[in-house]
Amino acid sequence: MSDKTHVDLIAAIDPDDIGYNPTSNPSFSDLIEARLSRRKIFGLGLGTAGAALLQACGGGSNDTPAPAPAPAPAPAPAPAPSPAPMKLNFNAVAKSMDDVVTVPPGYTASVLYRLGDPIAAGVAAYLNDGTDDPASYDRRAGDHHDGMTFFGADASGKWSKTAAERGLLTMNHEAITPLFLHPAGQTVVSGVRTVAAEVQREFFLHGVSVIEVNESGNAWSYKQDSSFNRRVHTLTEMAFGGPAAKTDYLKTKYSTDGSKTRGTLNNCANGSTPWGTYLTCEENWAGYFRRTAATDDAERSAKELATFKRYGVGGSTTSGGGAGRELWATVTPDTADNIYGRWNTEALGASALDDYRNGVNTYGWVVEIDPFAPASTPKKRTALGRFGHEGACLGPVVVGKPLVWYMGDDSRNEYIYKFVSTQAWDAADIGGGMAAGDKYMDDGKLYVAKFNADGTGTWLELSMGMNGITAGNAAYAFTDQADVLVNVRLAADAAGATKMDRPEWASVNPKTGEVYLTLTNTNASSRPIDKTDAANPRFYNDPKGAALTAQKGNPNGHIVRFADAGGNPAATTFNWDVYLFGARATAAADINLSGLVADNDFSSPDGLWFSEASPGLLWLQTDDGAYTDVTNCMLLAALPGKLGDGAAKTITNVDGATTRQQATFVGKAPGAEGLRRFLVGPKDCEVTGIAESGDGRALFVNIQHPGEDTAAAAIGDPSKFNSHWPQGGTARPRSATVVITKDDGGLIGL
Ligand code: FEO
Ligand code: CA
Ligand code: CA
Repeated sequence: MSDKTHVDLIAAIDPDDIGYNPTSNPSFSDLIEARLSRRKIFGLGLGTAGAALLQACGGGSNDTPAPAPAPAPAPAPAPAPSPAPMKLNFNAVAKSMDDVVTVPPGYTASVLYRLGDPIAAGVAAYLNDGTDDPASYDRRAGDHHDGMTFFGADASGKWSKTAAERGLLTMNHEAITPLFLHPAGQTVVSGVRTVAAEVQREFFLHGVSVIEVNESGNAWSYKQDSSFNRRVHTLTEMAFGGPAAKTDYLKTKYSTDGSKTRGTLNNCANGSTPWGTYLTCEENWAGYFRRTAATDDAERSAKELATFKRYGVGGSTTSGGGAGRELWATVTPDTADNIYGRWNTEALGASALDDYRNGVNTYGWVVEIDPFAPASTPKKRTALGRFGHEGACLGPVVVGKPLVWYMGDDSRNEYIYKFVSTQAWDAADIGGGMAAGDKYMDDGKLYVAKFNADGTGTWLELSMGMNGITAGNAAYAFTDQADVLVNVRLAADAAGATKMDRPEWASVNPKTGEVYLTLTNTNASSRPIDKTDAANPRFYNDPKGAALTAQKGNPNGHIVRFADAGGNPAATTFNWDVYLFGARATAAADINLSGLVADNDFSSPDGLWFSEASPGLLWLQTDDGAYTDVTNCMLLAALPGKLGDGAAKTITNVDGATTRQQATFVGKAPGAEGLRRFLVGPKDCEVTGIAESGDGRALFVNIQHPGEDTAAAAIGDPSKFNSHWPQGGTARPRSATVVITKDDGGLIGL
């Protein structure tokens, strides 16, 4: 979801821009600053992951079992010749505001899979004029392509980690740009959607695609009639797994035992499992639900009102509105199975079994999908908690050890989480499908991160009865573990987690086991100058455009990096620093803390992903609204060092006449050799979602919502739309996947 105002006839507010965290959780300005020296901090048992600790986030995960302990020491192998150090090997792409995708000389970016493209035999090519048959959209590409995984497939159609020429590209479709989807935008009369067919299109345009892709020569295409092709959307039946399944919180008229729901929504970033399934993460789901506080509040308990407020469910005092961002609940007549009315989350019937008052509890989860089993039922994994899930990054995979997923909750002042499975990983479960998910993802412990001012951190367990999560908690009286998981934000508040500057993607460096996580940006109202802390340390003004419009707070974002103690992902302590700060290259030294230059300056990091084929190579993607007076969003390649490679630093923050010192830990400046711009996208787009073929010689990148800042006045005249990418001319813009190859067939970026 972009930072930019979404061109939408109904919702003028980007849900990403809203924070709902009212607690006074730290704020390191309130803590005693314990400024230990870097030497002391990073000497405290900082483990380095071994070679077996390879991981994969977003990509198909590592399936290499760690070797069993040898009964007797083997003779020491002869030392291998040390490989040449990895180097970025391309010319930086210049910042640009052109309506094209630009990659370096020697590379080709080809459009692979666009909004509306047919994925079943007999479905017509997309007309892209708003007249395509609404009923066909469950067999077309969705809108707003986002997080994505390439699952290599062998000749028999089984998952193969190294498959380089055939795979199931599985991707999210986060949201829609309604202006481009119908003949003349959404038809709304007095706040009511009067054309059900338009809503049907929109139901299908959200969710997930699974498409078979194949390489021929150096060119990739998707197979329109593959039996693997699948769309998962807002009408697809989903089961619940984990402690909240079949509890009162999830009971609706559709599922009176709380075992299932329909659909997934606002699927942002992604993740994967070591058994070969896909994880799609529900981010800004709350705004889609209709709830009118004036009439519904009296029907709801104090606990329900507290959770609405904390999650920004429509009609609460903090969220405004309450109509539902696409007005889906307004269509009449409703169907017998309430495909429209289910988006109204008010208490209307005699009990929760007669309405969708709990509908809002059925979203906000990590959802597992088996791309190799097109008929399988996706499952929402409640043990991973309910919040604004950005992604779910699989940690290092080691036989005999628990599995770990790192997760950001993307809203201002929200938290970073990790889930640790109870079951230890058994490589025999590779290919185990949804049953393996039941084993590893339905039972475990959820933790939230607390970043200390001295460069250490703590994972606080979010279990009933621990860390203030009790029936006696003043802000919210917890009942049981299902209550904790449905209301994880409130549990994390109670535990004392650290408010972060919008946690987005995470990825683990396969060379070190260290976790990198983007904090895309925040604003002055969410983090004023007296509320910075060591891990969210900057407050500054980033003047935008010729008018030098003020952008205060941390509008350019940063990337935090942490290492769980002893190289053990299940550890409950960690050490951290800030790997990289976004900034204009021309910004002052206390803003441009990473010394960015013209070839690598950026703002608002969002997508972040370590290559598996080229271990140590990191890709960064931006979803920016701050530096867009100078450049469209971009993709950068990086070769990060390691935690602690920089230094402690005290910076001076400035807000008008107010100055304030803030201590933090700044990673080593990357220089032009360690960070370089690889791609710039078309107008008004977000660059998000990234995956590679099994050999690292094809890079898949998603271009989301080109042209989204188009003024509503342009409705009906596509020639006036801000972007016409990828078709050109006067065509309506389309979100799309591009595939990037090197003209000499080599590894991307190196
Ligand atoms: Fe959907 Fe947080 O980006
Ligand atoms: Ca974002
Ligand atoms: Ca994102």
